[in-house]
Amino acid sequence: MAKFIFVVCQNGVESACKNEVTRNHPELRLAFSRPGFITFKLDDSRFPEKFFLKSTLARTYGWSWGNETADSSTDLVKSVLQHPKLAEAKHIHIWQRDRLNPGTRGFEPGVTPLAQEMAEQIRRFLTKKKQLPVNGLAQPDVPVFDVVMVEPNQWWFGFHYATTPALRWPGGVPLIDHQVDCVSRAYLKLQEALLWSGIGIKPEDNCLEIGSAPGGACQLLLEKGARVLAVDPSEMDPEILAHDNLTHLKCRGRDVRKRDLRDIRWLFADLNVTPSYTIDAVEEIVTNQHVCHLQGMLLTLKLTDLKMIDQVPDLIQRVKGMGFNLVRTRQLAFNRNEFCMMAIRDQFALRASRRKN
Ligand SMILES: C[S@@+](CC[C@H](N)C(=O)[O-])C[C@H]1O[C@@H](n2cnc3c(N)ncnc32)[C@H](O)[C@@H]1O
Repeated sequence: MAKFIFVVCQNGVESACKNEVTRNHPELRLAFSRPGFITFKLDDSRFPEKFFLKSTLARTYGWSWGNETADSSTDLVKSVLQHPKLAEAKHIHIWQRDRLNPGTRGFEPGVTPLAQEMAEQIRRFLTKKKQLPVNGLAQPDVPVFDVVMVEPNQWWFGFHYATTPALRWPGGVPLIDHQVDCVSRAYLKLQEALLWSGIGIKPEDNCLEIGSAPGGACQLLLEKGARVLAVDPSEMDPEILAHDNLTHLKCRGRDVRKRDLRDIRWLFADLNVTPSYTIDAVEEIVTNQHVCHLQGMLLTLKLTDLKMIDQVPDLIQRVKGMGFNLVRTRQLAFNRNEFCMMAIRDQFALRASRRKN
C-alpha cells in the first residue's frame, strides 16, 4: 500500500482540516498542502485499505500515489492511462481543486469545464479492452482511481473505495445541477445534505425548518411534496409563501407552541447564530413531550471561526444525549463557512424514509 493519503477540502480550511485530521489520526503527518488539497504521510502504523477518515472538513480522501507534472495535457492524460494502479480501478474520477470559497463570485464546486474536457480525453484514449466510467456516480464499494488537478499542469493520482455516498461522487461533490433557479443556495445545501445523509423525504412528510427565510430549503421540500412549517422572523420569498403546503410562522424558534409540532417528522435548522445556540434551540424542541414523531434532523452549523470545528465531538455527544443514535457531521461541498450535522433516532427510521410507499 501507499504510505501517503490525500485529502480534499474547501478552499481556505486547509489549516483547520490538517489539525482535525492529525488530532483524530495521530499516525498521520502533514506532507504537502495547497489551498483545498493536502497530503499526509502515514507512519509505520497500518491503515486498512478501505480506511475511514474521521474528519468533518475532509470532502473526499484516498491513498496518494504522488504527482506528475507536464506542460501538455496529452502527456498528463497518457500518464493516467499508463499508471500501473489503473488496472485495479473500476471507475475514474478527475476534478480540479476548488479555486474559491463556494458561492463566491459565482463559483460553485464540482467538475469544471477543464476537468470535463480532460475526462473526455481520457474516455477517448481508453482502449476497448479497458473501458471505465469517468466522473459518474461510482457503484458502491468499487475501487476508484483519482486524478486531482491541483494545478492545470500538475496532477495528483490516488485511489479510494466508494464506501460512503460522498466517496462515490467525483471529488466528493454530488452530481447536482447548480444552475437551477432557486430562491437561495440553501436549496443546493439541502439537496446535498439529503444525498449524503440518505434521508428520503416523502410526499406528505411533515417538516419543520427554523431559520427558513428566504426559502431555498423549503422550496426543495415543497418540490418533494412535503408539508412545511417555516419558522423565521424574516420575510419568506412570496412564491414560496404562496404554496399551499407551506405555513410561515413569523417568529423565533423558541416562540413556537410545541404542541403544534406533534406531527413533525423531520427538523431542519439553518440559523445565522453559533453552533451551540442552534443546538440549544433544537434541544428545546426535540426534548419536548409533544414532539413525539420526530425521526431525525439536518442542522446547518455556522463556523464564524474555524476553531469552532474543535467543538464537533462535544456537539455530537450533546445531540446523542437527546436520543439520536446516529449523529454525523460533514462540511458539505455547497456549505460556505458552516458544516452540516445529521441526527437520526435510529437506523430503522433512516431505512424506512427511503422505502417507497
Ligand atoms: C442562512 S438564513 C436561512 C436560509 C434559509 N434556510 C433558506 O433556505 O433560504 C438564516 C436565517 O435564520 C434566521 N434566524 C436567526 N435566528 C433565528 C431564530 N432564533 N429562530 C428562527 N429564525 C432565526 C434569520 O432571520 C435568517 O433568515
